[in-house]
Amino acid sequence: MISFITKSTSIRAKHSLPELPYDYKALEPIICAEIMQLHHSKHHATYVNNLNVAEEKLKEAVAKGDVNTQIALGPAIKFNGGGHLNHSIFWCNLSPNGGKPDVALLKQIEKDFGSLEEMKKRLSETTVAIQGSGWGWLGYCSKTKSLRIATCANQDPLQATTGLIPLFGIDVWEHAYYLQYKNVRPDYVKAIFDIVNWNDVNSRYKNASGC
Ligand SMILES: [Fe+2]
Repeated sequence: MISFITKSTSIRAKHSLPELPYDYKALEPIICAEIMQLHHSKHHATYVNNLNVAEEKLKEAVAKGDVNTQIALGPAIKFNGGGHLNHSIFWCNLSPNGGKPDVALLKQIEKDFGSLEEMKKRLSETTVAIQGSGWGWLGYCSKTKSLRIATCANQDPLQATTGLIPLFGIDVWEHAYYLQYKNVRPDYVKAIFDIVNWNDVNSRYKNASGC
């Protein structure tokens, strides 16, 4: 009985691939169903699986007091944990009918960028210019109470690496667009603004800013 209790309390649920809040074809014609299916069921799933493997190894290393292995696992946890966090936000950031920025978010955007169009322009330019694979973000800085545009290389998660709270992210790994847009990343980034789930971005801004 005692061993049962000990065992059950030490088990923590593994990370799992979240369901998409829409069908694979829901974002067409901006993002085709084939990209969505591969991106979600293959790429995101792989980050989840590899994160679980790395965490299991970390748990064993912690139990053994093996600090070398704990440190060596850092990059795998950052990459796969970041991939899981980033994509979990990304799916919710998109929608075929995502509404529009609410009054509070629009006011903050106009304060920090002048206009919604200017924010989109700067986020697009910054994201298109990412060298190699990475993410462009609209984030919220709690210290300055302002919106920021930032980029992250690879799968580096925004909050853990910059302190900014993620509101809206654009995945510019080629797996996110190449099957449809080939090498023309600017067309993909421009088009993605037609499927922003502003209702989700509004909610993330509200939680981040506390207003
Ligand atoms: Fe991706």
